[in-house]
Amino acid sequence: MRIDEVLYTQGFGTRRICAGLVQQGLVKVEGQVVQDPSTEFETAGLRFTVQGVEWPYHAKAYLMLNKPAGTECSQKPSTYPSIYTLLPAPLRTRPNKASVQGVQAIGRLDQDTTGLLLLTDDGQFIHRMASPRHHVPKVYEVVVKHPVDARQVARLLEGVVLEDDPKPVRAAACEQSGPSALRLTLTEGKYHQVKRMVAAVGNRVEALHRSRIGELEIPPDLAPGQWRWLDEEQVEALRTARSGQPPGSVDR
Ligand code: URA
Repeated sequence: MRIDEVLYTQGFGTRRICAGLVQQGLVKVEGQVVQDPSTEFETAGLRFTVQGVEWPYHAKAYLMLNKPAGTECSQKPSTYPSIYTLLPAPLRTRPNKASVQGVQAIGRLDQDTTGLLLLTDDGQFIHRMASPRHHVPKVYEVVVKHPVDARQVARLLEGVVLEDDPKPVRAAACEQSGPSALRLTLTEGKYHQVKRMVAAVGNRVEALHRSRIGELEIPPDLAPGQWRWLDEEQVEALRTARSGQPPGSVDR
């Protein structure tokens, strides 16, 4: 692929801007300035620098973000800063055939929820991960206001009715992880699901952190607010993840 096209696909601006970056000598491949926009490179494994910043070529972008508290998952946040401000500009401006540009969060976390959030510009992947048939387990660490008792854990596992849906929803797994803490695994993602389920059993969420999606966990060295590329194995594992559990809703 031509180097100006490489830059364009990776979100460095319009084709004209990308050709300009190359002509101005601002782009290097393997330490060498590339000044001719038509220079061809093999994209597999290609790494280049633009104005000194190194960038790996990715046909599609898949990343994880350790979402900090006090950020909104919306592109147009109402109160708190958007999570998209935590990403470098090229990830937000990658061209896309869909009407939206750049990477998009797969599902949303509340502004006060922290932890693992996936983002991609692969529409099919978003669709697959969000499909009700694709029950990827998501693990939440929940700090609650009142001491947890065995009855609450049992009810979360049996299923609770939320106000907008007569079908009970249940946790795929639930364990007490401290006097006022729960580890809850859900295989679906209804609006405010953890908070509403915990409220339905007479307790209240004080802090909520998503620690895992499928087999993917937040690496210990990924601080809140930091992001990282997913590698091919991680993407494939998410694509093919199965909960091995029936859906989180149970028919009564
Ligand atoms: N459940 C909630 O209530 N909030 C979140 O952010 C995620 C799951």
